[in-house]
Amino acid sequence: MKINNQHYHTIWTTNDDATVQIIDQRWLPHELVIEDLNTVEETATAIRDMHVRGAPLIGVTAAFGMYLAARSANKNNMTSVLNSAATLLKATRPTAVNLAWAVDQQLDLMNKAVSINPDLFLAKAKKLKEESIERCRQIGTFGLPLIEAIYERKKSTVNILTHCNAGWMACIDYGTATAPIYAAHDAGIPVHVWVDETRPRNQGARITAFELQEHGVPHTVITDNAGGHLMQHGEVDLVIVGTDRTTRTGDVCNKIGTYLKALAAHDNKVPFYVGAPSSSIDYSLGDGLREIPIELRSQDEVKFIQGQHEGTTKKVLLTPAQSPAANYAFDVTPARLVTGLITEFGVYEANESALQEMKKKLDAET
Ligand code: MRU
Repeated sequence: MKINNQHYHTIWTTNDDATVQIIDQRWLPHELVIEDLNTVEETATAIRDMHVRGAPLIGVTAAFGMYLAARSANKNNMTSVLNSAATLLKATRPTAVNLAWAVDQQLDLMNKAVSINPDLFLAKAKKLKEESIERCRQIGTFGLPLIEAIYERKKSTVNILTHCNAGWMACIDYGTATAPIYAAHDAGIPVHVWVDETRPRNQGARITAFELQEHGVPHTVITDNAGGHLMQHGEVDLVIVGTDRTTRTGDVCNKIGTYLKALAAHDNKVPFYVGAPSSSIDYSLGDGLREIPIELRSQDEVKFIQGQHEGTTKKVLLTPAQSPAANYAFDVTPARLVTGLITEFGVYEANESALQEMKKKLDAET
């Protein structure tokens, strides 16, 4: 997607592949900062401290981190260096399954390769990146008819609510939740997006709004508490969110607050869809509420808020200095509240038999 009319991905390597480069998302929307990653330790920090974020992107970044680790090793210690790198990377953010999935793909390569060298891991990371782009593009293709159908019925602007940032900044390109929105906008369907600000880190207000603005998609930033009110007044036709981990039974774990949107959507008969690439479906889990680890982050993210003042990015204290805060980063929306999962293979119901059908397609592809 574009920033200032220039096409960007969220991660790439320099021409000689010596350095991995990322957009450091902590400074958006006011500053576009590109960061160099030269070691697996720098990569782990970038993921843990959310220079990069969003389930598909942290997976691909971790895959590049494994390449950087391989580059620092020699023939004799390669296996132990890569195993340590995998442990380090997997511990950075526990909820999004894409991260462990991508690291495991690199470990699998290590275990199967006849002779190991860093180029193998570089090629794999680049492949995972390309596959991730294609998955999002397909989610756009399969999600577009959902928006088209509403437009056909309504003959006026389709209002879509989204939570957090499941846009191209959370992926490599297109996004998951946003891919159908961009596809509809580009097809000439009038869409308008209600963007939940998404406390505490405000990925909606800072990043989704920035993305939509750069692409020219009409949108309005709202407080996290406004969605229910808008749904009660017929101002939301459709909700589309992303996912950090979806169980084989269709429970969806996504940014904290997603569950409340699903409840409000259910109560108001607003369809609630999830942009869910296969890389975010965890077939080993059956009960999202009990089994998905929920990341607990620093209370400072709740107590302080970041913004720009007279051209400088500043962080200010919001709460009484001594008040404790709790920062649960994700919640689980039970499958019964999910209208459908928009995957790269099509739109599936959020239940075990539908997701087994999807798995057959996935298995046939790999
Ligand atoms: O904590 P974050 O910013 O990494 O959380 C991101 C989200 O919750 C996204 O909605 C999710 O990763 C889906 S991304 C396409």
